[in-house]
Amino acid sequence: MTTTATTQPQVAAGLRGVVVGDTRISYVDGERGQLMYRGIDIHDLARYATFEEVAYLLWFSALPSREHLQTFHADLARRRSLPDPILAILGEVPATATPMDVLRTAVSAIALFDPQAKETTPQSNLEKAQRLTAVLPTILAAFYRLSHDHDPVPPRSDLASAANFLYMLSGQEPDPQAARLLDVALVLHADHGMNASTFASIVTAATLADMYAAVTSAIATLKGPLHGGANEGVITNLLHIGSIDAVDAWVAEKLARHEKIMGFGHAVYKTHDPRAVELKRIAREAGERAGTTKWLEMTERMEQAVWEQRKLYANVDLYSACVYYTLGIPPEYFTPVFAMSRVTGWCAHLIEQYANNKLIRPAEHYVGPRDVRYVPLAERTNDIPIVETD
Ligand SMILES: CC(C)(COP(=O)(O)OP(=O)(O)OC[C@H]1O[C@@H](n2cnc3c(N)ncnc32)[C@H](O)[C@@H]1OP(=O)(O)O)[C@@H](O)C(=O)NCCC(=O)NCCS
Repeated sequence: MTTTATTQPQVAAGLRGVVVGDTRISYVDGERGQLMYRGIDIHDLARYATFEEVAYLLWFSALPSREHLQTFHADLARRRSLPDPILAILGEVPATATPMDVLRTAVSAIALFDPQAKETTPQSNLEKAQRLTAVLPTILAAFYRLSHDHDPVPPRSDLASAANFLYMLSGQEPDPQAARLLDVALVLHADHGMNASTFASIVTAATLADMYAAVTSAIATLKGPLHGGANEGVITNLLHIGSIDAVDAWVAEKLARHEKIMGFGHAVYKTHDPRAVELKRIAREAGERAGTTKWLEMTERMEQAVWEQRKLYANVDLYSACVYYTLGIPPEYFTPVFAMSRVTGWCAHLIEQYANNKLIRPAEHYVGPRDVRYVPLAERTNDIPIVETD
């Protein structure tokens, strides 16, 4: 004889609308299509700020003076090198490994070489934030080169983060326009409220696990195609479709099959995603620089077709795919590039969390049977299914 739970608490599917705490880091207004970092509009930051300024803004809640920005650059630059054992691990990883998995593994492994890994004091967290932000591009570029039978290119301390990443990837210093295009993309991806990967990171940190553990959780979470993995899905789709003439029919078929189209829809925005607006602008610039706007035109066509057929807005991943592809970044590195930027937001949230911590422990609504009789193993000739009574 079993009984079934009868109480009906309110379940917020996907935790939509549940407020987990106060924050001073970023403000997302899904109705108005607004995003602000520390109160500053994302459109202004995308046009005028650099990625390093944004990292400083997120962590110190201040726009840096010229002198402080220079010191900050130097602090990041001197943390870019990888310990030799990490390079050795990257050399042993199968060349076919997914770069996001490699990134997650390497970040986890780096903790083993930091004697202060377990410390969660404000100073130690700031140092870890700098270290993580500095090494993510080095890990990715080193793995890219090793998996293509090339020696890793050591980081250069005279280049900013975006330029240094493109340099380590190709071995060629990028032109200032390419470097700035990636820099703007990094600015736009740095933080976005209580998104899934940030939430995963603070859940981990709230147990007082260290920042490496929390960022490892975040990377694992960003990987999924409903979150950061969507940008790679966008380019996979565009390459598969092949030409602008085939876009409308492809969209219609996907929607008829009730399949999700990567780069569209958002859990919070009910209007234009302001990051997509900026990314569309720089996608044009990136296309013109590269001498082809084919991918941009296909993306614009897809945006129009999805709007006409399903009334969904483009999200951050739609046009970022176009920007990265035109900059020559391999598709499987699109989501890792997102991580290279979002690590600054994760760290800002982690610093905020450690400063005012409370274990995160939500409840759930049990809907299964109760008081089921345990049948001893000796009495079981077959599996005994657990049957719901009503
Ligand atoms: C981001 C996302 C998970 C937000 O989801 P959400 O607000 O919880 O909305 P749901 O997934 O519940 O979708 C609501 C409805 O819109 C549809 N929908 C949402 N995004 C869609 C998409 N990209 N393509 C097709 N249909 C979509 C759903 O199928 C669902 O339709 P239904 O009511 O007929 O079942 C969702 O839009 C999505 O999966 N997008 C594609 C992945 C992506 O680009 N992720 C990056 C986000 S920045």
